[in-house]
Amino acid sequence: MPIPHSQTIQFVRRGEVVTLSNVPPTRTLLEVLREDLACTGTKEGCGEGDCGACTVVLGEADGEQLTFKAVNSCIRMAHSVHGLALWTVEDLSAANATSQHPAQEAMVQCHASQCGFCTPGFVMSLFGMYQNHVIQGHPITRETAQTELSGNLCRCTGYRPILDAAQKMADFPAVRLDHPTITRQLAKIEPRAPDANTPYRLPGTLAELLIARAAQPNAQLVAGCTDVGLWVTKLHKQFDTVIDVSRVAELRRIEQRNGDLVIGAAATLQDAFNALLQRWPELRTFAARFAGLPVRNSGTLGGNVANGSPIGDSMPLLIALKSRLVLASVRGKREMPLEDFYTGYRQNLLATDEVVAFIKVPLPASAASSSTTSLQTTLLRAYKISKRYDDDISAVCLVLNLTLDAGVVSDISIGAGGVAATPVRAGQTEAALRGQPWSQARVQAAMLTLRAEFEPISDMRASSSYRRQVLGNLLQRFWLESQGEQHINLEAFKLEAVS
Ligand SMILES: Cc1cc2nc3c(=O)[nH]c(=O)nc-3n(C[C@H](O)[C@H](O)[C@H](O)COP(=O)(O)OP(=O)(O)OC[C@H]3O[C@@H](n4cnc5c(N)ncnc54)[C@H](O)[C@@H]3O)c2cc1C
Ligand code: FES
Ligand code: FES
Repeated sequence: MPIPHSQTIQFVRRGEVVTLSNVPPTRTLLEVLREDLACTGTKEGCGEGDCGACTVVLGEADGEQLTFKAVNSCIRMAHSVHGLALWTVEDLSAANATSQHPAQEAMVQCHASQCGFCTPGFVMSLFGMYQNHVIQGHPITRETAQTELSGNLCRCTGYRPILDAAQKMADFPAVRLDHPTITRQLAKIEPRAPDANTPYRLPGTLAELLIARAAQPNAQLVAGCTDVGLWVTKLHKQFDTVIDVSRVAELRRIEQRNGDLVIGAAATLQDAFNALLQRWPELRTFAARFAGLPVRNSGTLGGNVANGSPIGDSMPLLIALKSRLVLASVRGKREMPLEDFYTGYRQNLLATDEVVAFIKVPLPASAASSSTTSLQTTLLRAYKISKRYDDDISAVCLVLNLTLDAGVVSDISIGAGGVAATPVRAGQTEAALRGQPWSQARVQAAMLTLRAEFEPISDMRASSSYRRQVLGNLLQRFWLESQGEQHINLEAFKLEAVS
């Protein structure tokens, strides 16, 4: 157990600034809520970000307004909420104790609550949706409800009334939060001093981060903690010093620069995917299948890339989009194609004083990615094969980015996951297709190349032979889609149609 220390955590809750001290750097927000503050309304189900029982909502000041995110408190370090506003299920009706919040009332009226484990988490995800949709005057569609509740599991299949409750919230009189008062309270909380030699560092600028990283190369770097949190809760790891990159202003930005979409490493997965979707709307289903919303709200694109899991989902996509990675340290910056970053299973080129700073994604020549000239067409498809449709890790991921010029492959870029020790580019398959006519015979030959290009392992997610088979099958599906022949797939399944 790390030695307690005097670094305080301050956050706004129930209209007051809460101050906590002696919280070890790896104590989770859930532990603090349940064990230190005796707020046992927030439940622990899995302790690994899967079930959503521990969902709380965080508010962050953006000028005089607040932005809201539902996150999993079980894998979130308590120190990471310093300077934020926090709502738990106990806090929803505090402003008006005589009635329930619309999120709660809707659950009651739709008979959506069965057990006390999942319900608080569902209510908090509904509360997040209420702030981000209902209060903004946007109706909650069935699809929105399904997407934004995908991080909450109910083991007794009570989903239909819960989805009804999401849509019913708008029927009740609006309950508005006092944003200016809360943001004024947040402004009174001192940011963490950049030069302090403290156990949990929260630098606010890239310069501060790089100095901290150079000074403490052994400190555990974290961003959204959706990977590292599990090392704490499941592997029982403890870190004496943590450097949290999630407040570094430059690394949270997403901007268009010199023909690239430049995504800061600390941009959340949700923000990063939203930016990618503006350019490539065809990625919508793939983006929605990356974990559930609470994980995407906390986890970052830089964390996915730096973690380098061979079954991580963003890397095959970023490789297919020909992305480049910018690493930064006090010594300067260096840039490389994303696939060159990885040197072995969970090994990469990051030096002990470096951080992943930016991911540069080249933008298509025209805003519409479907067609550039009358003879040139492009097709981008991202396929994720997993045991469960929602909120699951890939067994195989394949992303194909094709440009045809008068029926000939002028360019093809293919990223793959789940088939090697690292995320990879399918270079041999690309070479087999580039410059060739886009024909069934060529694609069938390339399917064999793709199946032979990697030596996937067998594990609990899939056998080696299954992974090989699926790789080729996905290329065949891509061919069929390019011919307009593939209409039946999971994406085509619409919940409204069966409800
Ligand atoms: C329930 C659940 C579902 C998930 N589903 C998916 C899924 O569908 N697909 C998928 O790919 N992943 C999934 N993940 C994994 C995880 O959410 C992602 O890998 C996420 O992008 C990690 O980002 P993070 O900010 O949380 O990283 P953290 O956990 O904070 O850090 C992960 C690693 O990256 C390092 N790191 C973080 N930021 C930087 C930086 N700027 N520079 C250098 N190193 C850095 C850390 O030191 C650590 O080694 C899931 C996780 C959970 C808990
Ligand atoms: S307890 Fe299951 S997601 Fe946190
Ligand atoms: S009602 Fe709680 S798990 Fe189903």
